[in-house]
Amino acid sequence: MSTTIPYHSPDLFEKRTDSNSQVAVDFRGYTIESFLNAYRECGPVYRTQINGLEEIIIGGLKANDEAWRRPDLWSYSEAVKVFREELSDLHLTQLDRELHRRKRRLLNKAFKTSSVMENLPQIAEEIQRGIEALAGEEVELHEALMEIFTRSQSVSSIKEKIPDEMVKKMVAFEEGFLGALFLKDTERASIYSRAGYKEIKNEVLTYLHGIILKRLEGNRAEDLLDTILHQRTSNTMEPLSEKELIYDAYLLLIAGTGNTSKTLCYCLNELASNPDWTAQLLEEIGDFKVDSMARGMADFPLLKATIMEAERLFPAAPVLPRVPAEDMDFIGHHLSKGSHCLHMLTLMHFDESIYEDPFQFKPQRWVGHSYPKQAHGTFGGGSHICLGMNVARIQMPITLGFLLSNYNITVTKPPKKENYKFPNEVDSSTVRMNIRLKRK
Ligand code: HEM
Repeated sequence: MSTTIPYHSPDLFEKRTDSNSQVAVDFRGYTIESFLNAYRECGPVYRTQINGLEEIIIGGLKANDEAWRRPDLWSYSEAVKVFREELSDLHLTQLDRELHRRKRRLLNKAFKTSSVMENLPQIAEEIQRGIEALAGEEVELHEALMEIFTRSQSVSSIKEKIPDEMVKKMVAFEEGFLGALFLKDTERASIYSRAGYKEIKNEVLTYLHGIILKRLEGNRAEDLLDTILHQRTSNTMEPLSEKELIYDAYLLLIAGTGNTSKTLCYCLNELASNPDWTAQLLEEIGDFKVDSMARGMADFPLLKATIMEAERLFPAAPVLPRVPAEDMDFIGHHLSKGSHCLHMLTLMHFDESIYEDPFQFKPQRWVGHSYPKQAHGTFGGGSHICLGMNVARIQMPITLGFLLSNYNITVTKPPKKENYKFPNEVDSSTVRMNIRLKRK
């Protein structure tokens, strides 16, 4: 039987500033501490207003379990309609049910662990080359890493010599697009309608279309796009169309690079202030080589723990919008079709009953210990779990491995969410962090 959803006064939520939260990331602009208090008071489901909008907040182990176990109850297309508006109604992130299952099945070949690992040497070499090019000068690391990750995808997922200028445009497009993702409708529309943004987006999508056309004309390459295009499927499954392949090419080359980079920036900043742990890590990493990770993370328990801790403490997408596709019972509460919900998928990262000293960077907590799946929400869960998780989890340790084994790193400006001018006129937000690398 459904019970009334408790109400939590919006006045009790605190806007995050640099001084009032123990976590560097914000949760829709508010402190995670306020959401933890609300959870303790009201439980896993409650009503409130966030940034002036009526929302139903869901969070906690049970809520994660239930939300991820029954994906068909949610309308992803409604919740993330911005992807539809900006990247077409064919884009994976906004598909539901059978349409979503078809697309995940068709893309799976390029994103499963074995496919990503097949390209390990090429990915590692490209990341190493990219890092070497940064040495000596003060660099803005966030976007530099995004460029490196796009390049590393261009030697594995879609083998294509992409001009430097185009890589920069891909990063600018991704940052401009994602920076405005969760703004209010009118603010977002004003950013996406700027001439500069539209121009870059158009150039990037036209470039991706060009790649797809060449492949559809019969050009082959030994890459994951080729694998997807020429896989055997059942007769009943509609093959990927020319139009949807453009957005699939975006997934193979560009998507998620900002999230991967953001996680690493925060991680490096933490390592800089944890010299004891970093010293142990350096010892484990030793002289990091391209083939170091041929056995996955088996030889690198401390490196793995470092990444897990960075994922926990600095989730790139800590809160996601959700919309019930139909009236439903959600752990004893009635949620109406179409209501606005915010899923606090990473709330439990900061719950002390699960993670001791949850606000501290303590990678050692992961060594020889695991936590419930529902308590680690960094990549989401269920059938919509992050498509690029395996890519990110290979790029992050390789990058850290090369950086730490070969360079002394000085953080000259710690990671911070900042407004930036895009392009030359409009404010949006991204993460900025400056470092200087000195070859050891
Ligand atoms: C550390 C890096 C990353 C983080 C923290 C991250 C986080 C997430 C999260 C939280 C979701 C939502 C899952 C849900 O709705 O339950 C997601 C979905 C997604 N991510 Fe990532 N992501 C990362 C990197 C990447 C990369 C490298 C790609 C490249 C393809 C990518 C592509 C996607 C796609 C396509 C989806 C939608 C999946 C679907 O709806 O089926 N992400 N990601």
